[in-house]
Order: sequence, then C-alpha cells, then structure tokens
Amino acid sequence: MDVLGGWEGMIAESCGENRIAYLDLIVQMWNVEVRTIAEIGVYKGYLSKCFRKYFPEAHLYLIDPWTIYDEYLEEEAGPVTEDQAEMDAAYQSVCKAFEKDPRATIIKKFSIDAAPEVPNELDFVYIDGNHSYESIREDILTWMPKVRKGGIISGHDYDPVDFPHVIDAVNEIFGRPPLVGCHTIWMWQKGD
Ligand SMILES: C[S@@+](CC[C@H](N)C(=O)[O-])C[C@H]1O[C@@H](n2cnc3c(N)ncnc32)[C@H](O)[C@@H]1O
Repeated sequence: MDVLGGWEGMIAESCGENRIAYLDLIVQMWNVEVRTIAEIGVYKGYLSKCFRKYFPEAHLYLIDPWTIYDEYLEEEAGPVTEDQAEMDAAYQSVCKAFEKDPRATIIKKFSIDAAPEVPNELDFVYIDGNHSYESIREDILTWMPKVRKGGIISGHDYDPVDFPHVIDAVNEIFGRPPLVGCHTIWMWQKGD
C-alpha cells in the first residue's frame, strides 16, 4: 500500500482501517458478494486504499471532482479543504496510488455527472462527497438505482452534532434510520 506520510496520514489511514473493517463485517453478516464498489468523494484516497485491501478483487470506481466549487465552501457541505492546490495534490496522489491497478477507475467528475459512466448493478456504493442536505439526497437518489438488489448503499457522517442534515436526508429517503455503526457510517441493504 502507498505510504501516506506523516502522522496525519497514519491516523487517517488507521481510522479508515477501522471503518472498512466494520463495513466488511456487515458485508459478511449480510452475505453480500462485493465485486464492484463506487466511492463518491475520495479526496486523498484513504478509504479507497482500504477498500482495495479488504476487497482485492473488486472493481473500484473512485469519483470526485477534486475541485473547490462555491456550494462546497458552504459549512453544511463539510469541505475538507478550501485550497485548490491541496485538492490537486490529493488527486495526484490518488492517481499515483492506483496507477498500476487495473481494477480501479478514477472519474474526476461530480457525482451526478459520473453516474452514467459507471455500470449498473453495483454491489456497494459509499457516499462521502458534498455533505449538504441537498447533495446527500441527490447522491442517494442518483446512486440507489445503480445498486443491485441485495447490494449495499452506505455513507459517512450520520452525525447528529456535525451533520444533522445528513441524518435528515438519509432518514427521509429510507423512511427510518438505517443501520449506523463504527465512525458514523450508515448502511442500507437494497431489497425488492
Ligand atoms: C470527506 S472527503 C472524502 C473522504 C474519503 N471518502 C475518505 O474516507 O478517505 C469529501 C470529498 O468529496 C468531494 N466532493 C465534493 N463534492 C462532490 C460531488 N458533488 N461529487 C463527488 N465528490 C464530491 C470533495 O472534493 C472531497 O474530496
């Protein structure tokens, strides 16, 4: 695995490991075969690398515009940085980390623009892009139809303190709270 460098990277990486270990646990409990994963919001690829480690055979679709845009600077969106140079560096590091990986497709686009480029019948979608109410809603409604029956749609920051509107959007769409576990990850298995 690529070395992220520095304590920040090590902490983020181990945090990603915990998250993905939890996701893997639920995937096994729910008996879901994971061959295709779409991650919406990649940033430096911490979680993408963990996905690769836990699901070595899966095809990864890594989707992020790596662009600072006006709506992303609003507090509700939860921007990870306001610095385009940092975004550019994050993009370059993800390209480097996955350059020899034939099962990774990096799509440098907004979530809704990327969706038509990703096959349907996905096994697993993880939503962690713009965290505003509208964007979470739009992402779930865009990606849900692309998940196969029995597959999982999931996301980050089901967090009553920092992201109550993520909770609102998720609960509204699913009609009740989904399973929420390690590190405020929400998960839903698609039924009929
Ligand atoms: C919290 S970070 C992702 C972290 C990553 N999932 C991880 O756990 O390592 C959020 C990312 O979402 C991206 N983003 C913002 N708006 C987006 C959109 N409309 N579609 C896809 N990604 C978006 C940002 O550029 C940023 O890199």
